[in-house]
Amino acid sequence: MELIDGKKIAAQVKQELADEVSRIKAEGGRAPHLVAVLVGNDPASETYVASKVKACQEVGFKSTELRYGAEMTEEQLLAVVDKLNKDEEVDGYIVQLPLPAHISENKVLMAINPDKDVDGFHPCNVGKMVAGLPTYLPATPAGIVELLRRYGIETRGKHCVVLGRSNIVGTPMAVLMSRKADYGDCTVTMCHSRTKNIKDFTLQADILVVALGKPLFVTADMVKEGAVVVDVGIHRVPSDKTKSGFRLVGDVDFEHVAPKCTYITPVPGGVGPMTIVSLLQNTLKAYKGL
Ligand code: GUN
Repeated sequence: MELIDGKKIAAQVKQELADEVSRIKAEGGRAPHLVAVLVGNDPASETYVASKVKACQEVGFKSTELRYGAEMTEEQLLAVVDKLNKDEEVDGYIVQLPLPAHISENKVLMAINPDKDVDGFHPCNVGKMVAGLPTYLPATPAGIVELLRRYGIETRGKHCVVLGRSNIVGTPMAVLMSRKADYGDCTVTMCHSRTKNIKDFTLQADILVVALGKPLFVTADMVKEGAVVVDVGIHRVPSDKTKSGFRLVGDVDFEHVAPKCTYITPVPGGVGPMTIVSLLQNTLKAYKGL
């Protein structure tokens, strides 16, 4: 069993991005600029946005964090989006999800200029992804593909089983893995909360991508010997073995599943660091033009 070290690969990709930004600046160009919009005070969102801003600094991008209170109206947020769409100093931006319940996420995502939509969530960009056209790929699935590629894990003709159907991870992951491209070319099965006898499917997986949001859902009896397992989940669960009283676990019971795998991503340090790197890659794409 080999660990897929997302932290190490993320550091490599960040170094490559930093080198490219240095070249751009040496030639008199300005730095790529990412803006992150955060509404309300969801603690997880605050952590994610802080990590995104920090990563921008590490590679030499300009970054701006725009923070607003949870009482912000939809109209006010749409006005911010409109301003960012028109601001030529902004290459790409994201509106961190979830938004407060009184704001329609779909309405806001639809208002983002697709050329600046470095999350790749706008239906225009989702459509381009499905059609195999150049676009911004959603960060988590793109990061997973990058991990598989850099570890030289063969995907062509393999059976990839994706657990989860969210717009952010499961659905785009299934699309990317099924594409006729230099990476993908899998037979894909997508399972979700309504799938009956889910183990019948997971046991067939050469590559199992788990994005259900359920702590320790995948157990050893659900995984085929020699499988590649990618765990997108991250949860804080109580623990009497750590000083903090908590530990981080994924959607996979790593301790018991890992011995059966050829490759597996740990939590933390697997998929998470790659998600941020993909956002940086998309921002550079936005700067250079798709
Ligand atoms: N919330 C959870 N993941 C993401 C993401 O990738 N982008 C945005 N904007 N919000 C999120």
